[in-house]
Amino acid sequence: MVIVMDLEAPKSKFQSLSIFLLLFLLPTTLADGVTPGEAKQLRDEVREMFYHAFNGYMENAFPLDELRPLSCGGEDSLGGYALTLIDSLDTLALLGDWERFAASVEWIGKNLRFDINKTVSLFETSIRVLGGLLSAHLIASDYATGMKIPAYDNQLLHLAEDLARRLLPAFDTPTGIP
Ligand SMILES: *[C@@H]1O[C@H](CO)[C@@H](O)[C@H](O)[C@H]1NC(C)=O
Repeated sequence: MVIVMDLEAPKSKFQSLSIFLLLFLLPTTLADGVTPGEAKQLRDEVREMFYHAFNGYMENAFPLDELRPLSCGGEDSLGGYALTLIDSLDTLALLGDWERFAASVEWIGKNLRFDINKTVSLFETSIRVLGGLLSAHLIASDYATGMKIPAYDNQLLHLAEDLARRLLPAFDTPTGIP
């Protein structure tokens, strides 16, 4: 963010406003000004925190939905469909981790099925599972993402469609609102 102030101009209420805005927005200006070295260090910290959580889940809870942080066990808390793995797909892609992204997409395509008798949260299932499958499908299908999986054959798209059809009855209400 760049704020241009004309300090030669006569004092006016607009100038006071400009100084106020400058002070108010200063933290944003400084945050934009991290050096490339600092940015790299922050990036590495975020990467480390993600892998701490992701590896903890994979080693102790997968293929259950979530890791229980105190007992370090797994739990099928939201339906029993490896929720955290689906939730993590786009982050793996953002981090440029093609190997784990491709292996996760392959596992999901081979193992995930929604013809199960479970009570689920419509909201969580829509945003995390349906949304996760669709975004990973787009990432895995497109060379421009740098994450395209050559052997990928729309498995996640088919899973997403199957799941969406199973969720549809929830919208069959007088108002259309679940
Ligand atoms: C699904 O599970 C519930 C609760 O466990 C049970 O009452 C119901 O009969 C099951 N439905 C089918 C179609 O198996």
